[in-house]
Amino acid sequence: MRLDKFICKSTELTRTEAKKVLKNGEVRVNGDVAKNAAMQVHENNTITIGGQALTARGSRYYILHKVVDSICSNVDEVYPSVLNFLEVDKAFDLHIAGRLDADTTGLVLITDDGRWSHNVISPKKQCQKTYRVWLRHEIPDENLVDLIAKFEQGLQLQGEDSLTRPAHLKRVATAELVDDECYKSEVLLTITEGKYHQVKRMFAAVGNRVVGLHREQIGEIMLGDLAPGEWRELTVEEIALFL
Ligand code: URA
Repeated sequence: MRLDKFICKSTELTRTEAKKVLKNGEVRVNGDVAKNAAMQVHENNTITIGGQALTARGSRYYILHKVVDSICSNVDEVYPSVLNFLEVDKAFDLHIAGRLDADTTGLVLITDDGRWSHNVISPKKQCQKTYRVWLRHEIPDENLVDLIAKFEQGLQLQGEDSLTRPAHLKRVATAELVDDECYKSEVLLTITEGKYHQVKRMFAAVGNRVVGLHREQIGEIMLGDLAPGEWRELTVEEIALFL
């Protein structure tokens, strides 16, 4: 990793402070003064600041239950970043492995391990993400089999060259069971990619409209009973799923 990143990971210094100690010639890599923040270093290098040896802290991995009107970004904008919810040191040094829209709730994975998050989000890895979806229009019994087949075969989204990958659709509540003004059916949808607004665009492609969206599961990692706005560290077993 970059030398300035290594310094941040192994001390309380911010990226700007790390750059300053580098510029001042206080940092040595294997005994030689190092001033280049972008220099690539490895765990077996001896890195010192003012003669004190640094040891890199391990990577960090969290799960958060995102609430509406928060954003998956490293900066606050109209809405606050989900990183504000994490009561950990240097939360804004972490990144989000698979973003959700501001109006989507549910499971968000947060880490500082780039390779790990790549394994979560890369379409090549085909990691399953399951969403609970509330839809404006009902899915009548007579259309259900056909609709499931369309999602399985792939949909043509506007502006995309290729069809969506096979997706698994399951209806969990029909119009008769729904006593709500806003939605008329509830489904679970499992997809293995994450195109921009993918779930909303998939339902738009079949003439329906998403009015509520909640991510419940990524791979084997489940949101479970984590309350809205709450977070926890991932377990060793959960981390190992994407190493
Ligand atoms: N698909 C969407 O349309 N929005 C999300 O937030 C996640 C998946």
